[in-house]
Amino acid sequence: MPPSQVRSSGKARLIRAALQARARAVAPYSKFQVGAALLTSRGKIISGANVESVSYGLTCCAERIALFKALTAGKRKFTALAIVARVAGGPMPCGACRQLLSEYAPAATIWVADSARSKTIREFTVQELLPGAFLSLSNDLA
Ligand code: THU
Repeated sequence: MPPSQVRSSGKARLIRAALQARARAVAPYSKFQVGAALLTSRGKIISGANVESVSYGLTCCAERIALFKALTAGKRKFTALAIVARVAGGPMPCGACRQLLSEYAPAATIWVADSARSKTIREFTVQELLPGAFLSLSNDLA
């Protein structure tokens, strides 16, 4: 299989995992269900969905649920993240998720799709989503 087909089937597989995760979203307030699936450098998929609280600010996005699951399972290198929701063009990750992706998945390709048209996939780099990210506490200019 040529590399382009390997890549595109990996993309379809990751989007499928995000769609499956979305079905388990806990979003009784917004009803906006989001699914996310991370691909590790070893080919493992770890997925998550958004979880909402009646105290709205405690809600956690699908992307961070997937990332926190993966990190606390010992995963450290990620090559891609798929995100799906029923919104035209697919859901763009919020600012908080962009920060965490910049820190823990800077090399991941981000694939975003509308769950109702999941073959149309938009692609971003983490650097495109959050240019100039805050990444270090160091003051050392050397
Ligand atoms: N949400 C996500 O899970 N990911 C995003 O990229 C944007 C927003 C969730 C949070 C909340 O449960 C619902 O979508 C509405 O904001």
